[in-house]
Amino acid sequence: MTTTRPAILLLQPMMQQLETGLDEAYEVHRLYRAESRDALLGEVASQVRGIVTGGSLGVPHAIMEALPALEIIAINGIGTDAVDLDRARQRGIRVTSTPNVLTDDVADMAMGLLLATLRQLCTGDRFVRAGQWPTGKMALARKVTGKRLGILGLGRIGRAIARRAQAFDMLIAYTDVCSFEDVPYRFMPTLQSLAEVSDVLVVAASGGSGSQGIINERVLNALGPEGILINVARGSVVDEPALVAALVDGRLGGAGLDVFADEPSVPEALWGLNNVVLQPHQASATVETRLAMGELVLANLAAHFAGQPVPTAVV
Ligand code: 8YV
Repeated sequence: MTTTRPAILLLQPMMQQLETGLDEAYEVHRLYRAESRDALLGEVASQVRGIVTGGSLGVPHAIMEALPALEIIAINGIGTDAVDLDRARQRGIRVTSTPNVLTDDVADMAMGLLLATLRQLCTGDRFVRAGQWPTGKMALARKVTGKRLGILGLGRIGRAIARRAQAFDMLIAYTDVCSFEDVPYRFMPTLQSLAEVSDVLVVAASGGSGSQGIINERVLNALGPEGILINVARGSVVDEPALVAALVDGRLGGAGLDVFADEPSVPEALWGLNNVVLQPHQASATVETRLAMGELVLANLAAHFAGQPVPTAVV
């Protein structure tokens, strides 16, 4: 008896263990490797029942619409902003993500960027490597302990950042769609008022149309010339040209950025700024976490194709 394995479209390369797991159970079509994407889609579109993709890539509209037999989109990540969830609901397509397992890593990255930016860790590293230590002194950095931390978005990741910041005796405030009674942090009703009372503002809010560009010039000006912006969420939450202008003009003190508006493009104006620490979207990129994320992707697919409830459904 021959069994047909469900056809899966893989939109971007994944960690080897996840790709091996996919290959073992499914007929995997790798769109990113295809010489002609249109030709591959033309060939397999009618059979594809699942998509595996990353959080920031999501699923381009044209691909979703090209797959009439699509049943499930398994996101290897937490962000759902690049998947049209309304359309998925309409078509009865299930969407899954990988919550919880990446919370600690993303919060660790936020703290790493915060420390690296205020304490000028990357500048110091470049200073030593350039052989400048014997002949000069680095400028003084800024203290972390006791600073006022504002968190935009007090979800799982925002809360994990707050817990870490408590160990640095930081004074924590936040803003979100509502205040939460189960946390001891100060609620600020608007982003603007949060920026006004923060030395460091961390973006931990979801991307998408509701948060597009909400870190704008006014918010950056409220943070001020000593203020620091940390972003581990989505580049789209920040008005990037306004951020670049504020940093270049010295209206903002510094920034630690893991995410950008048009990845992998990073505005060149930022490359030479010592008060800016840049990362290539690495917040969840540890071996341990990517393994756990991959296992969840496989578990979601397996449950779906076995006709069972999926462990971490979004839609
Ligand atoms: C990943 C992310 O980099 O969780 C997300 O939404 O953006 C990141 O954790 C991405 O999903 C890689 O697959």
